[in-house]
Amino acid sequence: MRIRVRSGCLQVRSIKTRLLFGQGLQWPSISRQRVETLIGMAQKTLSTGVTARLLRSAKKVMKNAHAPYSRFRVGAAILLSNGKIFSGCNVENASYGMSNCAERTAIFSAVAQLGPKIEIRAVSVVNDRGVPCSPCGACRQVIYEFGPDATIFFQGAEGPKQAHITELLPEGFRLQ
Ligand code: THU
Repeated sequence: MRIRVRSGCLQVRSIKTRLLFGQGLQWPSISRQRVETLIGMAQKTLSTGVTARLLRSAKKVMKNAHAPYSRFRVGAAILLSNGKIFSGCNVENASYGMSNCAERTAIFSAVAQLGPKIEIRAVSVVNDRGVPCSPCGACRQVIYEFGPDATIFFQGAEGPKQAHITELLPEGFRLQ
């Protein structure tokens, strides 16, 4: 529904009416792609039971983190389309660049167990400080490789958040 104020009076037109009259749909504050993404997400909503299990797995594995350098423990769990859950923690190294994020540990573990045909439906990420922590750029690209339609649950700046992978990584890379 679109509400327009014209010379003091309120004019209300339904979307249906506008489409019937061939005027098209104008929705200035939100892009068509975002609308399609949200509709897609709503259609594939995960049950609260499954998301709770995913979160529990992420919290449990976080305790195994090897994070003596950053002292920032992270746990991640991934839900596959076959219903299986894999988890991983961050594993740091004295040569800092060799460190591996929790998300990638979980994904690589799933690939090692099941092979490269896995399909990621959802990812849950937690940290031991309860601070905002979305997957880093490298992990977003790795998630996209196996889960171009994945939903990511993480701590955002204003609390728990969920986002589609393509919102976190627009135009992810795919080798043609
Ligand atoms: N880290 C993760 O494991 N996942 C994230 O989403 C963000 C950062 C790790 C990497 C490093 O071991 C530590 O957190 C500090 O950057």
